[in-house]
Amino acid sequence: MNKITIAIDGYSSCGKSTIAKDLAHKLDYIYIDTGAMYRAVTLYCLQNHIITKDGVEVYKIEEFLDDMTIGFQCDPNTKKCEVYLNDENVEQDIRGLIVANNVSFVASFKEVREKLVSIQRELGKNKGVVMDGRDIGTVVFPNAELKLFVTADTDIRSKRRYNELRGKGEKVSLEEVKENLEKRDHIDTHRKESPLVQAEDAVIIDTSHLTRESQLDMVYELVMEKVEYLKSKIQ
Ligand code: DC
Repeated sequence: MNKITIAIDGYSSCGKSTIAKDLAHKLDYIYIDTGAMYRAVTLYCLQNHIITKDGVEVYKIEEFLDDMTIGFQCDPNTKKCEVYLNDENVEQDIRGLIVANNVSFVASFKEVREKLVSIQRELGKNKGVVMDGRDIGTVVFPNAELKLFVTADTDIRSKRRYNELRGKGEKVSLEEVKENLEKRDHIDTHRKESPLVQAEDAVIIDTSHLTRESQLDMVYELVMEKVEYLKSKIQ
């Protein structure tokens, strides 16, 4: 079977990465979590005091972007991929609320987006990739063969994220988590540089009431239909 590019976009914590990981695993494709890349840049900005309470010093971001390396290393057995910033595994450090509270802000900078989009295109250039984010089907791979736009009810998303953070031992309240999600959605959909919008040719998947298995079955079927269609066109 010829490999295709699968672009998955949608709001925060609506289940994109679960769908993307499960699908990549089932298809034996590479999974790229582009949110992790924006989170890694944010972590760097926080650690180096580039973000202050008065905002961000843009010229400093530009300076460090030139020297920064960002990528993934995958365990060949578990197929789990973890994000590396300047050769350091930062997978754990990027998942907390402090990074979550600042990431949409950092992701709104043109300089940051240009750098990460070019890395993402390089990572996906051979197809056989499932990439999730906010601008994958619109900016990174506008010619992706299959585009999904994932949504879910805000209360359900907040509860899922809250359970995930509490499970990791973070002391957060449900209100804080909901506030963070709503704020991020607002910034992500209203920013000037590649805002989150549904690509015209994307299929909408509402995960509010879907189990992990049923959402995987649904998207796997879409992939198979697309692959069959592409095959029929070249025959
Ligand atoms: O998917 P996530 O919640 O880990 O993403 C973190 C943030 O990164 C999100 O609030 C918006 C930003 N992001 C983006 O702007 N573009 C992407 N392709 C992926 C993430």
